[in-house]
Order: sequence, then structure tokens, then C-alpha cells
Amino acid sequence: MKRDFVSIADCDRECLEGYLAEAASLKDAYTAGIPSHFLAGQSVAMIFEKPSLRTRLSFEAGVTQLGGHAIYLTRNDIGLGKREPVRDVARVLSSMVQAVVARTFEHDTVVEMARYASIPVINALTDFSHPCQAMADLMTAREVFGRLAGLKLAFIGDGNNVARSLAVACGRFDMAFQLAAPDGHRLDDSFVARLAAQCPGMRFSQSADPAAAVAGAHVVYTDTWVSMGQEDEREQRLTRLAPYQVNAAMMAKAPAEAVVMHCLPAYRGQEITEEVLESEQSVVFQQAENRLHFQKGLLKALMCA
Ligand code: CP
Ligand code: NVA
Repeated sequence: MKRDFVSIADCDRECLEGYLAEAASLKDAYTAGIPSHFLAGQSVAMIFEKPSLRTRLSFEAGVTQLGGHAIYLTRNDIGLGKREPVRDVARVLSSMVQAVVARTFEHDTVVEMARYASIPVINALTDFSHPCQAMADLMTAREVFGRLAGLKLAFIGDGNNVARSLAVACGRFDMAFQLAAPDGHRLDDSFVARLAAQCPGMRFSQSADPAAAVAGAHVVYTDTWVSMGQEDEREQRLTRLAPYQVNAAMMAKAPAEAVVMHCLPAYRGQEITEEVLESEQSVVFQQAENRLHFQKGLLKALMCA
């Protein structure tokens, strides 16, 4: 049976460990200059309804490094759900390529694609989640700390798609997840209830207090306050989230060994300062690089099973 990567919640710990192991081994091979052509003769369609640097680049370069061919399709190219229904696109793609990577506004678009495609479908970010990002971030945390279990991740700012995926990923790996956000920006009750059911016993909490969140944290994480598609709310978001900037004063309340993560792109002077982003504690470019390695591991696991 084909496997998709739409949500981290669909995968158990063992499955995610498998992806991380493939990723680490492909990273070692890449670093040593050893070719890994597991996708020779295979094609991957990449549908992007939104802009991207890291995700497009890492999938496209990753497929090439694995000996395959990536085909980039924009919203204008296929008019997903407009020129023709998602379920028709899914079946056409299934007859011509061996996997689909999709970045869409609505999460249900990727869910529907996975339902109708007979090939693996990978979520490359939706308004709801960003699972490839979260798993590359855990790969990074494991490289830095040598373990995942027992670590604490503090997410400061907007409880968005990246925060949701990180929360589930932390739950799967026995990491604590604590969000600090103002009213209206914390994770909603239905998500929190599902998280509790998906990750029993997980150490999860959220409040309006960033000092409480960063206390004892190993990872201090932030992301943009205005995600793609929320541009109309920009001014009110910048105002409401201003007290949640990750700056030197906030980092002083975190342990000295904590690292700073950001999925990028970063808006310096808004959710994070230049000083913190460029500090020794920042591992943002290690995170970005690990998008390549994690996704290569994922592609190999899903396409060469
Ligand atoms: N972090 C991330 O997904 O970046 P892009 O939007 O540039 O792909
Ligand atoms: N939360 C951001 C992540 C970008 C990689 C967005 O959805 O725009």
C-alpha cells in the first residue's frame, strides 16, 4: 500500500524514526560525496500554490541528487480545483509520475490529493501544517543535543501551521512543547483535544507568558507573524504580537545552552531581532539545510519501499 506524508499525526514514532534514519544516512553519503541514485528513472510532480525558496529548492535538488526528475507546477499551470478538480489532477499525476509534493492554501486539497492519488503525496505546507519543516527541525535538534526525548521546545509568537506540526512532532518524540502567544493566536481547543488523543501523556502547555515558555527550554522557536495568505491582517497581527519578539532580553530568560530556531523566511525586527538571528545560539541555516536531507530520506522511504 502506498504511504503519504500529509500529517505527522498519521505516522507513529517508529515510522518517523525510519525517515530520520534514512535522512541521516543520506546526509552522511552526501557529505562524503557518495552518490545515492535511489530514484533513477522516477519523476516527482511539485505543485506550489504559494511562494517558496527552501521547500522548492530542497525537493528539486533532492530529487536530482537521488537520480530522479522533479517537475515544478505553479497554481497558474494547473489551476488546482479551478481548471479541473483535485481528484482528476491526482489521477492524471498518478499515471505519469511516481510521487507528488504539494504546497497549498487549504489543507483539504492535500488530503483530497492523497485520497485519489495512487502514488505517495507529500505535504509541502498548507495553512494548517508544515510536517517536513517540523521533522527537519527535530533532525536538527537531535544533531545539536544528541537526543530528542526530554528536550523542551518553546514556540513564541503565532500558533500557526509550523507550530501545529512541531507540537505533534514533539509529542511523538517525548519532547515538551510550550507555546506563548496572545489571545487569538494560541492553538484552538479542537486541535489541543486531538493532540492529547494522538500523543497521550504529552507535556503540552500554552499561555500568554513567553518568560514561562522559554524557562528551561532547549529550543526557542519562532516564525513569521503573518503567514502566506494572511497579508490582509498584517497590521493587527504586528501590533498584537509585538510583545512576543524573540530578542536578547527574551533569550536572557532561556538557558544559556538553548538554541534558536526559525523556519525562515525571517522578518528581522518583527518576530526576531537581527542580533538573535545572527547569534551563536541560532541554528537556522542548519535547519534549512536539513530540509534537503530529511526530504531525501522521506522520498526514499516512500518511493523505494
Ligand atoms: N521554511 C520554508 O518552508 O521555506 P519556504 O517557504 O521558502 O519553502
Ligand atoms: N508560517 C509560514 C511558514 C513559511 C515557511 C507561512 O505559512 O507562511
